[in-house]
Amino acid sequence: MNICLLAGDGIGPDILKQARKAFSAVEKKFGHSFAFTEALIGGAAIDATGGPLPEETVTKCKASDAVLLGAVGGPKWDDVAMNIRPEKGLLGIRKALGLFANLRPAALFKELAPACYLRPDIVAQGIDVLVIRELTGGVYFGEPRGEGQRDGERAAFNTMIYKESEIRRIAKVGFESARKRRGKLCSVDKANVLDVSRFWREIVIDEHTNYPDVELSHQYVDNAAMQLVRAPSQFDVIVTENLFGDILSDEAAAITGSIGMLPSASLGAANPGLYEPIHGSAPDIAGQDKANPLATILSVAMLLRFSLNLAVEAEAIETAVKTALAQGLRTGDIMQPGQRLVGCEEMGEAVAALI
Ligand code: IPM
Ligand code: MG
Repeated sequence: MNICLLAGDGIGPDILKQARKAFSAVEKKFGHSFAFTEALIGGAAIDATGGPLPEETVTKCKASDAVLLGAVGGPKWDDVAMNIRPEKGLLGIRKALGLFANLRPAALFKELAPACYLRPDIVAQGIDVLVIRELTGGVYFGEPRGEGQRDGERAAFNTMIYKESEIRRIAKVGFESARKRRGKLCSVDKANVLDVSRFWREIVIDEHTNYPDVELSHQYVDNAAMQLVRAPSQFDVIVTENLFGDILSDEAAAITGSIGMLPSASLGAANPGLYEPIHGSAPDIAGQDKANPLATILSVAMLLRFSLNLAVEAEAIETAVKTALAQGLRTGDIMQPGQRLVGCEEMGEAVAALI
């Protein structure tokens, strides 16, 4: 089983180092053997090669069964040209690997409930939402895009566009995922304003005929943003387009109070899938042994489950993380009174030992 590691920038190398320990523990415990290759992405790739996504990185990713990514970006590259920004590396690898389905589970760890931003009576109803974001279409990639002249002055534009096949395949992922969970899918759009959203809704409703056992609802994106803080327990699976999903998945993650805890999977029609923590590169604490490695370690669990079909191994990792939290271990971002503050290394070691 070949894993390609893309550490990227900021705390990326710190957290991937701890993820490697989780892999090693799984190897030892279950008798597997993983082979690792490393490749450059983001600012690290710009520094070494002049661009955020070297061809060699794409080749190495395509030759692997799964890709684990740290994070990209940082102030060092704030002034580079738009077309070679570190973020372009991430968008480029998603497109190159055809990763159209981005799964971002946002669930509350009961040990961290006091860190949750919402009122206790809202939290008590539970937060366990899976945001499924379309990842290779919409306004992120739509053409035409660029700058030009309108009415005698400068203007800029992007295009939000979806083909029927793109909506259908992400809707299917939504329905299939809901089936494996609590059977509820909420499709989020802006069908009261946008043509592309009206079309999105029409195709999702049509696809629903193949999944009559799933309960389908629709919300406008502004309402969904409000409902997520007002009554998040109403949601099981949310499916939405690229930009709405970018925004709502941050919101869903943040309300759990533990953005440093949440993993993600980006999947295409076949392997390799790409797995990454949903948080960013946190350049202010890079290399200081302060980062929370748990989102990346939990991304390893998703990798094992979705790309390598190793569900028992994935659960062993998730249980180890919960046990570490139950034992009171906390990195700075999730520190609470009465718990024990540990660094990135110690947290990684502890979880590996628990696996
Ligand atoms: C994310 C990030 C990326 C996105 C950026 C870094 C390009 O915000 O993964 O949500 O907008 O997709
Ligand atoms: Mg985002």
